[in-house]
Amino acid sequence: MAKTLKIYGSTGSIGKSCLNVLRLKREDFSLKLIAAGNNLDLLKTQIKEFRPEYATIYNDKKVEELKFFLDEFGGNTRFVPFEKSFEIYSDITLSAIVGSAGLIPTFKSIPHTKRLALANKESMVLAGEFINRECKKHGTEIIPVDSEHNAIHQSMRAGKIEEVKSLILTASGGPFLGKGIEELKTVSVEETLNHPTWDMGSKITVDSATLMNKGLEVIEAHFLFGIDYENIKVKIHPQSVVHSMVEFVDGSIICQMGKTDMMLPIQYALYFPDRINTPEFSFDFGDFLKLEFLEPDRETFKSLDLAYRCGKGSVGDRIILNCANEIAVNSFLEENMPFLKIPEFIERMLDKIDRPKISSIEDVIGFNEKVRKICIEEVKGGNF
Ligand SMILES: NC(=O)c1ccc[n+]([C@@H]2O[C@H](COP(=O)([O-])OP(=O)(O)OC[C@H]3O[C@@H](n4cnc5c(N)ncnc54)[C@H](OP(=O)(O)O)[C@@H]3O)[C@@H](O)[C@H]2O)c1
Repeated sequence: MAKTLKIYGSTGSIGKSCLNVLRLKREDFSLKLIAAGNNLDLLKTQIKEFRPEYATIYNDKKVEELKFFLDEFGGNTRFVPFEKSFEIYSDITLSAIVGSAGLIPTFKSIPHTKRLALANKESMVLAGEFINRECKKHGTEIIPVDSEHNAIHQSMRAGKIEEVKSLILTASGGPFLGKGIEELKTVSVEETLNHPTWDMGSKITVDSATLMNKGLEVIEAHFLFGIDYENIKVKIHPQSVVHSMVEFVDGSIICQMGKTDMMLPIQYALYFPDRINTPEFSFDFGDFLKLEFLEPDRETFKSLDLAYRCGKGSVGDRIILNCANEIAVNSFLEENMPFLKIPEFIERMLDKIDRPKISSIEDVIGFNEKVRKICIEEVKGGNF
């Protein structure tokens, strides 16, 4: 029987890749809901093709136009307000909104879904312990979509959790691999968005270039797999063929390899525990495949160590890390903040902002909003 699926962030890079997976075997999934942020034009195109049961958009100003379109179009798709959509039940919910905006849809969908296919790593960084608790309470399983965690999930099937010695996350190194501080002082947005191996949304592409993406992934891995930070390692692997590895206590290292196409981990997250026959994803070794694994340059790319520090720290540390990074990356993309100021700004916000006691998801949301306002004010004032 077709499984029901909701997609948050259907208009983004991951959302579009998920719809591409659906195109391969349309009969396997019944699309319950698609949700966009702002891009109503693309949402309309997706509604016309996929005819989901419900559609919604986050941007209030576009709601009336979406409702009008649904009436005019005459399909069976119904409008549902964004906040109400979390309560619609589906077998699988793909969480693929970018940044901290993904936290509420992710968290509030947990009681109403059997499986959370998780791409939005920021929600795990902000609230990993609360998300895990909520999943346990409602019997919801998380299957990671992030390619590294998806690779670890696959590799974990080779042993027991108590037999794991370490997780080894691979990183492409981004467009600035091998560059030093001097060269990074003047890099442009265009150069930064020119990722060598992956085609992704702009925020994650900048995060890849600063190595913050890997830092966020270290925290995500800690919460997904319950492994101590000391046992989560990072290796630079410029070829992006090995998507990550698990080292077991007997010395065996199990990895997952494959094409650099997010359709692959999305497909795994939708079909797990089954695998389907998709010849289009066959891996071509070519005539000469060379795989390298290097140590990250932590002096130049300071964000990685900042993330380890905050991961080992408090929830408040992680919220400031994630929020300050988000605001700094936006400012960089708007060409207001130089590339190297991103980690400096995060460090300054970590020094400046006091942490309250955080014991619930409401506390996380409240403190995240507060930090967001402070960071926006600081950037507006040119304090970076
Ligand atoms: N792209 C990848 O290959 C990749 C790989 C691993 C993990 N991830 C993770 O997956 C998530 C999505 O990344 P992406 O690259 O797909 O990002 P993206 O291309 O920028 O797409 C972001 C999606 O989020 C929606 N959105 C933005 N703000 C929103 C808001 N306030 N409320 C509701 N929806 C909102 C956007 O809607 P509109 O476009 O309609 O405004 C869009 O659908 C991120 O957490 C990222 O770290 C991505």
